Amino acid sequence: MIATLVPGVDRVLFTEEQIESRIRELAGEISRRYQGRTVKLIGVLKGSIFFLTVLARHIQVPVKVDFLGISSFSNKSGSPGVVRIAKDLDESIEGEDVLLVEDIVDTGFTLRYLLQTLAGRGPNSLAVCTFLDRTPRRIVQVPVDYRGFEIPDRFVVGFGLDYNQLYRNLGYVAVLKPEKAPSA
Ligand code: IMP
Ligand code: MG
Repeated sequence: MIATLVPGVDRVLFTEEQIESRIRELAGEISRRYQGRTVKLIGVLKGSIFFLTVLARHIQVPVKVDFLGISSFSNKSGSPGVVRIAKDLDESIEGEDVLLVEDIVDTGFTLRYLLQTLAGRGPNSLAVCTFLDRTPRRIVQVPVDYRGFEIPDRFVVGFGLDYNQLYRNLGYVAVLKPEKAPSA
C-alpha cells in the first residue's frame, strides 16, 4: 500500500510492510540468541519506543522493558556531542541480559555514552539493537549487534524519528524535503 505522504516529506525509504517484516526477522534472531533467558529491552526515549513496541511483540523469550531519556548537545563546529541521562532507568540492570534499543545510530556518540554508563552497572550481558544505522557519518566506533536498516546520509523521519518532535507517528520512514531538513 502506498501511504499518502504528509507535507514536508520527500520520499519513502521503507514502507510499513518492509519495516514490519524486517522487525520480525530481527525478533527471530534475538529470540534465538536469548533462548532460555529473559531479555531486558532498554529503550532510549523517545525515538525508539515505536520500534521497541513492535520488536517486543515478536520476541519469543520472556521480555522486560525499561526506558531511559537522554539530552544531547552538539555544536555546529562538529565537536563531540555531549550526552547526559535526563531520565534514568526505573530498575537495576545488575545481572540482567540487556538489549539496548535505539532508533538510529549516527555519529555514535550517544551509543558510546550509553554503553559506557550501562556497562558500569553490572549487567550479565549488554548488546545493541538499532532500528536504523547510518554508518557513513560514524565518528566513534561502537558495536551494533542488530540493525534494522542501513540508511544513506540523509535526514529521515517516521516510525519514531522526529524533526522538531514531529513525524514520529508516521508508519513509514521517509526522507525530509531538503528545505525542511536540518543542516548537518
Ligand atoms: P548520534 O549520537 O550522532 O549517534 O545520534 C543519535 C541520535 O541523533 C539519535 O538517537 C536521534 O535522536 C538523532 N538523529 C540522528 N539522525 C537522525 C535523523 O535522520 N532523524 C531523526 N533523528 C536523528
Ligand atoms: Mg535518539
